[in-house]
Amino acid sequence: MPLNRDAPLVARRHLEGAYFLLSFRHPDVARGARPGQFVMIKAGTAAELPLRRPFSIMSVDPVQETFTLFVKAIGAGSRALTQLEPGEAALCLGPLGRPFEPPPPAVEALMVAGGYGVSPFRMLAVELQRLGLRGRVFYGGRTALDLQEREPFAALGVPLHAATENGSLGHRGRVTEALEDYLDTRPGDVALYASGPDAMLHAVARIADRRGLRAQVSLDPWMGCGIGTCLGCVVPIQEADRPRPKLRVACTEGPVFDARTVVWAGEEISAARRQHLREVPA
Ligand SMILES: Cc1cc2nc3c(=O)[nH]c(=O)nc-3n(C[C@H](O)[C@H](O)[C@H](O)COP(=O)(O)OP(=O)(O)OC[C@H]3O[C@@H](n4cnc5c(N)ncnc54)[C@H](O)[C@@H]3O)c2cc1C
Ligand code: FES
Repeated sequence: MPLNRDAPLVARRHLEGAYFLLSFRHPDVARGARPGQFVMIKAGTAAELPLRRPFSIMSVDPVQETFTLFVKAIGAGSRALTQLEPGEAALCLGPLGRPFEPPPPAVEALMVAGGYGVSPFRMLAVELQRLGLRGRVFYGGRTALDLQEREPFAALGVPLHAATENGSLGHRGRVTEALEDYLDTRPGDVALYASGPDAMLHAVARIADRRGLRAQVSLDPWMGCGIGTCLGCVVPIQEADRPRPKLRVACTEGPVFDARTVVWAGEEISAARRQHLREVPA
């Protein structure tokens, strides 16, 4: 059950570039959040900003009643959050949205992240470990600067494949190329999880389609309310039993969707994908 609270900032760490780790006290998020869920949050003092912004929950500490966000400061809302001082409050509603579902036993979870899209995979990696399941991270960005917070995966014993477009860290090129290289080694049964820019999510969905793999993607649409009332976040989703795509509210029915159901910009759902949807339940 999401709850709206004043959430005081308890810790702020400036990483490199525009990236920050921000921890807030909010007992309901700290105790109730699942991997892939998010909060709608705004700096309490930013009166000129009427709307909160969505951020994935990166980690929780139920004992301290805190949660942590991995924030890339790109505009007024995210910058105002990163300028809060410890003790100052943000207005925070959460936990929100549909989480990632863990894979069945013995299936390896391949988590594909672009930039700040890595955020929900820290919690997912912890959940996989708790369930005795295997996980592996593919983390891509333009430069090494975009690939921060890699150490927590190493600490959990989760292998990480880095990819940068300029070659400054790991594979030179796209993160989906590193993913395909790994898939070509014919690992056992795998399930894909993706979070990041639309183009990367679409590429992961195409790989899943081509290889007949299950994939869950966390979409990143504009969100105004987070509770299904403004309809700012609707996305076209094709379900198996419907003749045409239906607009779904990403903040409450997502942000995580079965990749096969997402109708990407400029794309039509193929007959093969409809068939796969009917034959293999999510
Ligand atoms: C479910 C979800 C989870 C998210 N998790 C994180 C996270 O963990 N860490 C993080 O840093 N960000 C995350 N985001 C993105 C974050 O919500 C946006 O960066 C934020 O809303 C920007 O607000 P702003 O006021 O700072 O910038 P604005 O002034 O609103 O925008 C600045 C620029 O960024 C563009 N922009 C705004 N929102 C988005 C978006 N969602 N995707 C792409 N471009 C956008 C705008 O078009 C504009 O050009 C998430 C978004 C969603 C939907
Ligand atoms: S953000 Fe308002 S309906 Fe989804």
